[in-house]
Amino acid sequence: MATAMLTMSSVTKRYGETMALADADVAFAPGHVHTILGENGSGKSTLVKLLSGVVRPTAGEISLDGRPIELGRPVDAHRLGISTVFQEVLLAPERSVLENIFMGFDGLLTFRLSKAERRSKASAALASITRTPLDLDQPAGSMPLAQQQLIVLARSLVRDPRILILDEVTAALDFGDRDVLFGAIRAFVETGRLAIFISHRMDEVRRLSDRVTVLRSGRVVETLEAGQITGPRLLSLMLPDTRIPVGHHV
Ligand SMILES: Nc1ncnc2c1ncn2[C@@H]1O[C@H](COP(=O)(O)OP(=O)(O)O)[C@@H](O)[C@H]1O
Ligand SMILES: [Mg+2]
Repeated sequence: MATAMLTMSSVTKRYGETMALADADVAFAPGHVHTILGENGSGKSTLVKLLSGVVRPTAGEISLDGRPIELGRPVDAHRLGISTVFQEVLLAPERSVLENIFMGFDGLLTFRLSKAERRSKASAALASITRTPLDLDQPAGSMPLAQQQLIVLARSLVRDPRILILDEVTAALDFGDRDVLFGAIRAFVETGRLAIFISHRMDEVRRLSDRVTVLRSGRVVETLEAGQITGPRLLSLMLPDTRIPVGHHV
């Protein structure tokens, strides 16, 4: 088994009375698509925000390459090569596609790249996840929702992260878009990087994952390795009350 790149040790996040994530232990290995699966409200986005410096843990520790890290702010995660596509599509609708792709970049990098370099990086990132070229100069808000989602994805890719976190990014995508995106995610991890893929869609999870951690009510139920990832197994971990009739194949 590969050594972990990123680990969460006994990580807890509480919002007042709500235990959003309780005592979570997860080890993420390089070269993997590691999926976090769970029903709505199970704590997936909380885990994502903890790994992205958006919220701080109530308790516990996050380590990268074996060393504890402090993710106090999103910029801390960026500097460590962690880039996240959040569940909510965050776009400035009147700004161009190009501006949106480079939005929120550390000033340093933006200034270091010429306009031409920014255009070519943005085009390359979009080309890896879209089937038809997008006009970089159009306002992002004028595009269909699926394309807006792809623009937000491209924003993460141009940062060239080591760790890419995708929180329910397929909701607005059709099957064709999804195929292209899944190909891009596989290509991303083939070079030894890590993708953390968040989903509650069973078909996607089985197709894409090297490893699946199942959350239920803020708790890690189990982490399955590739050979253990089957529909019935995932369902029974996600929904403890599901009764699967004998002989029924999901
Ligand atoms: N900012 C917040 N304030 C209070 N409760 C929150 C906050 N964010 C999430 N929660 C609660 O934490 C739990 C886990 O939420 P979340 O991580 O968004 O789950 P998921 O992404 O799996 O749907 C839910 O009960 C949710 O209502
Ligand atoms: Mg969520």
